[in-house]
Amino acid sequence: MLSEKTINIVKSTVPLLAEAGTVVTEHFYNRLFSHNPELQDIFNMANQRSGRQQFALFNALAAYAQNIDNLDVLKEALARINHKHTSMHILPEHYPIVGGHLIGTLKELIPEQFTPEVEYAWREAYALLADICITEEAALYEHSKTKHGGWSGTREFTIANKQVESELVTSFTLVPNDGKAVITHKPGQYLGIKVKPTDAQYSEIRQYSISQQSNGENYRISVKKELLPAAGIVSNHLHSLEEGSVVGLYPPAGDFFLRSYSKPAVLISAGVGQTPMMAMLQTLLSDSSDQAITYLHACENADQHSFAGFLTEQVSAHSRLSSYTWFNQGGEGADFTGLMDVSVVAEQLPLGGGDFYICGPTGFMAVIKQQLLDLGVDTARIHYEVFGPHQDI
Ligand SMILES: Cc1cc2nc3c(=O)[nH]c(=O)nc-3n(C[C@H](O)[C@H](O)[C@H](O)COP(=O)(O)OP(=O)(O)OC[C@H]3O[C@@H](n4cnc5c(N)ncnc54)[C@H](O)[C@@H]3O)c2cc1C
Ligand code: HEM
Repeated sequence: MLSEKTINIVKSTVPLLAEAGTVVTEHFYNRLFSHNPELQDIFNMANQRSGRQQFALFNALAAYAQNIDNLDVLKEALARINHKHTSMHILPEHYPIVGGHLIGTLKELIPEQFTPEVEYAWREAYALLADICITEEAALYEHSKTKHGGWSGTREFTIANKQVESELVTSFTLVPNDGKAVITHKPGQYLGIKVKPTDAQYSEIRQYSISQQSNGENYRISVKKELLPAAGIVSNHLHSLEEGSVVGLYPPAGDFFLRSYSKPAVLISAGVGQTPMMAMLQTLLSDSSDQAITYLHACENADQHSFAGFLTEQVSAHSRLSSYTWFNQGGEGADFTGLMDVSVVAEQLPLGGGDFYICGPTGFMAVIKQQLLDLGVDTARIHYEVFGPHQDI
């Protein structure tokens, strides 16, 4: 329990964190990586360069400080962070390191505001937050380790099959080298994958949604090539690997998953955002429920349309499944041309009672969420996944 005084001091320093500009966040990460270079094997250094992750930590701390006397508000956000952390095997011993550099940064950069009294309050508050995370993450690790087919840390998997799905996306079937079972995943969850590309300075960890329903034997991920120069450290490395190559996987994690089998579901994706939807769709179709499933997908054109054949087969095999496709550039195979507008299929949607799942670029997801809200869908029934550091949409 934190004292009233600590709570007040921490709350009064919210603006310090919320307004932490690039100078503060850069200082923190430089300090972290120069004192603890081994952490560069855990952090996504491309996210560091693009600045996307830097603010995530400070924003989370500011939100924590703001709600320090009502932590229930942060439950969902913390669960998401805890899942993400376990997909990279963040351990209790990492917390004092991060906490120390955080306090050190604030002391060095804003010495006037960060008085010994403020420092003391923040040390206490950080210790409490670290404790909450460590406890939650321990429970997730315990689950992944002790359930049938589970494990801890990285486990070696061989790429048993590579399947080109479209111009940009290739699927990889990953089979455990020990030949044993693999833990079941909730449809929508992702794997942490650890590789060391030949020309990379550090090991790299990335998350990839599992793009098939659970089968207890293997996983499938489907990875989009990055076309921008100097990007694509892991995705392009995976594309270059031959069948038979070995990669390290952390157990499935993630809090974006199918919520219900007994309600209609609408699976909405753009581009490679189809991957968690594939797991959800397969799982729903193999369930005996007769609830309607609507699959909405947007991509550039037919060449970039992944899983097209699979979807056509499923639509003819299951009368409760309907599928609508938007090609931005138009062309054969699309129901609509241009950007997705869910209002054109509104009559087919369970606006009053179904669950809506969205995955794609954040701009796309924000537009679709707004369209759904405009059609009267309750925000609590809209779920989404960001393929990078989380952003509210
Ligand atoms: C929960 C989750 C699920 C995911 N599921 C999938 C999935 O199913 N399929 C999939 O393909 N991806 C998925 N991703 C994304 C994936 O984890 C990787 O982020 C993606 O493959 C890119 O990683 P990379 O190493 O190839 O590219 P990186 O080299 O990390 O580059 C990624 C981006 O960072 C930017 N960047 C890189 N270097 C710089 C720089 N110097 N300056 C500025 N910007 C830079 C570029 O814009 C580039 O597009 C998921 C991510 C999350 C968080
Ligand atoms: C209480 C302390 C911490 C808080 C509040 C925190 C918060 C966050 C947040 C908000 C994210 C982004 C989550 C998302 O993508 O949605 C994140 C990701 C991450 N965190 Fe933490 N974190 C903490 C401690 C740690 C520690 C101790 C480590 C280990 C050294 C760590 C390593 C990471 C890494 C590697 C990522 C992924 C970022 C990337 O690679 O781009 N975090 N954390």
